[in-house]
Amino acid sequence: MKPQIARVIEHNRSTAMEWPAYSSHRETVMRLLLEAAGNSVGMSLCLVGAGNCNDVDLVRLSDRFGEIHLVDLDESAMRRAAARQLGGNREAQSNIVIHGAVDVAGVLEALARPVDPVELATIATEARPHVGDAPFDVVASLCVVTQIIDSVVATLGTSDPAINGAVTAVRNRHLAILGELAKPEGRVVFVTDFVSADTAPDILEPGANRVDLMKRHIADRNFITGTNPVAIEQVCRGEPAVPLDVESFVTPWIWDLGKRSYLAYALVLRPRPRTD
Ligand SMILES: C[S@@+](CC[C@H](N)C(=O)[O-])C[C@H]1O[C@@H](n2cnc3c(N)ncnc32)[C@H](O)[C@@H]1O
Repeated sequence: MKPQIARVIEHNRSTAMEWPAYSSHRETVMRLLLEAAGNSVGMSLCLVGAGNCNDVDLVRLSDRFGEIHLVDLDESAMRRAAARQLGGNREAQSNIVIHGAVDVAGVLEALARPVDPVELATIATEARPHVGDAPFDVVASLCVVTQIIDSVVATLGTSDPAINGAVTAVRNRHLAILGELAKPEGRVVFVTDFVSADTAPDILEPGANRVDLMKRHIADRNFITGTNPVAIEQVCRGEPAVPLDVESFVTPWIWDLGKRSYLAYALVLRPRPRTD
């Protein structure tokens, strides 16, 4: 197995039982997914980076969505999660479709062989991961972009200045892929961790204004590479290869994983018809 895949599978195994710690993060993610569905019932939902599904309540989702597509590298994590949450609930089970062993970034094959950041950026830009049954009404990216970027940086290192271009290409293509997975009138809910309390302990201060904190950490360049929401909004506005409009920025919240906490935020995005 490729080391990048082994690493995420091991991480999923070690966090599989973190359901209680995810509670408030899950409530926020669930609110965003249900809001994205509007008043409609029976729509299709695609969860990219579903993994252990600790950040979603599959029973509540299956009350609203007619199809729930779980997409991840780690098929066994999704199967375990569906079994844990749905047990013998056949009706809910029948709404779930598991798409395992999907590299949504399309770069892991390349990272398993000698590759330089410039070549990787090209590979990322051309990535076309296959998710059967697309397009979907609602597509959500569940804190997967930081793991994808981590695979790139952990493999290629940071000494070559071209790494920044590779990370940007991977991040931008991830956004574009989310848009391609969505129906033209659909919604993309992009959720990401932004900074860890290990490097930004002030995020845990009671009553802290988290938007102001975010601005300060952006100014100090203290955030997880690739997650600056200002840069992402600029990319959506100005980059033809990322045809998405930002519908809303969701005020950051704390994602408490028990052992570690992050400031997380979301963007709700709308696919924009391509002009090329
Ligand atoms: C931080 S977890 C997201 C949280 C997860 N939804 C949960 O509730 O436990 C990120 C997920 O992204 C998946 N992942 C990482 N890189 C990926 C890739 N290149 N393609 C598809 N999935 C990937 C991991 O397997 C993991 O399940």
